[in-house]
Amino acid sequence: MLDKSPNQRSVNVPNDLAAFWMPFTANRAFKKAPRLLAGAKDMHYITTDGRHVLDAAAGMWCSNAGHGRKEIAAAISKQAEALDYAPPFQFGIPQAFELASRIAELAPKGLEQVFFCNSGSEAADTALKIALAYHQINGQGGRCRLIGRERGYHGVGFGGTSVGGIVGNRKMFGTLLTGVDHLQSTYNRDKQAFSKGEPEWGADLADELERLVNLHGANTIAAVIVEPMAGSTGVIPAPKGYLKRLREITQKHGILLIFDEVITGFGRLGFAFAAERYGVLPDMITFAKGVTNGAAPMGGVIVRDTIYEAFMAGPEHVIELCHGYTYSAHPLACAAGLATLDIYRDEKLFERANKLEPKFADAVMSLRNEPNVVDIRTVGLTAGIELSPNKEGPGKRGFEALQSGFHDNDIMVRVAGDTIALTPPLIISEAQVGEVIEKVAKIIRAVA
Ligand SMILES: Cc1ncc(COP(=O)(O)O)c(C=O)c1O
Repeated sequence: MLDKSPNQRSVNVPNDLAAFWMPFTANRAFKKAPRLLAGAKDMHYITTDGRHVLDAAAGMWCSNAGHGRKEIAAAISKQAEALDYAPPFQFGIPQAFELASRIAELAPKGLEQVFFCNSGSEAADTALKIALAYHQINGQGGRCRLIGRERGYHGVGFGGTSVGGIVGNRKMFGTLLTGVDHLQSTYNRDKQAFSKGEPEWGADLADELERLVNLHGANTIAAVIVEPMAGSTGVIPAPKGYLKRLREITQKHGILLIFDEVITGFGRLGFAFAAERYGVLPDMITFAKGVTNGAAPMGGVIVRDTIYEAFMAGPEHVIELCHGYTYSAHPLACAAGLATLDIYRDEKLFERANKLEPKFADAVMSLRNEPNVVDIRTVGLTAGIELSPNKEGPGKRGFEALQSGFHDNDIMVRVAGDTIALTPPLIISEAQVGEVIEKVAKIIRAVA
């Protein structure tokens, strides 16, 4: 038993790392060689020992406008002084309505209402619940199956975990939701290795949905949820034509299509939303991360007007959807969101990402002959560089790459297994792209 008497606790000792059980982190390894951050500005993090670390991960796919944006900090501070908190149930703040309108404006036409929550996980669960409720009020309550995809990531709520397809995230948590099925992953290295952008091969994998419809019956299926680019599993762009095909099949069978754009939203693929890049109109889009540039927690779901309108029936004093969070549309997050969207617009950051994409892809592909590189995938300002596992098993080389990046090469990358994911802020300069590539080459050699 640990002695927890107050005079023996080391709460005032900043270097005591014991109490914090870190999320999605190898805690013991971290606490032996901590990666501690104290500041951030533009394209860099500043460590507690004063090093400037190039951010090739936008934090965690969040800070698309780079770090330390004064406009966002000022908006949050002003909002905290004016109105720190307001209940979002039965009351509202003007900023929430304004932000919803601004987000709906950025979304494809037809997606007109925004439901706010606080994270990508909550956004995924909210979208799934809206899908189930929508069918219920439409007299099709038998539609309660949910379909995700292998290697998909939709956060860590029970809904998102259930439709998610990363085994490590699922296997410890029991049977999860019932009535969930999964499409195949769209990744096939033999057919797609070293594709720039959307791979040519793989659109037909969407036809798998017909198989699931034949197995379960269309009138039992509520929704399909997919990421237009599967990020957390190691950057897997959708094959050309795949999402269109998925839309055709879902439409044919009255199944709702949800795009999880928690990563791909707000410019990551060169457009406000990936739905626009692919010319596909889903029924719902989930978002989080980039909406506030990471400066305050926020997530949400943008829904088709027809879905929203379906709920707007019955007596007007009755709550139409019994769902929401204490911090839905939190004033500080709304302020951060509005300031962030101003920056994206004024600095044309989505267009910037779009323009930089070919150069970024070429630069990353130059790593293909480095040791142990078995595939490189790129789309938008995102790339996955997959390394073969070392003899200690899957994930060790990737973990070493993360450490080598931070401790020895002053760069922050993300890793998924043995894949190095590059997702820099959209403000990255061409020279900094070159710097990222040089540093990543050094990392790859260091872990060879
Ligand atoms: C596609 C997708 N959905 C959901 C989530 C979960 O978001 P959060 O960690 O904010 O709950 C993530 C996080 O990376 C994500 O990439």
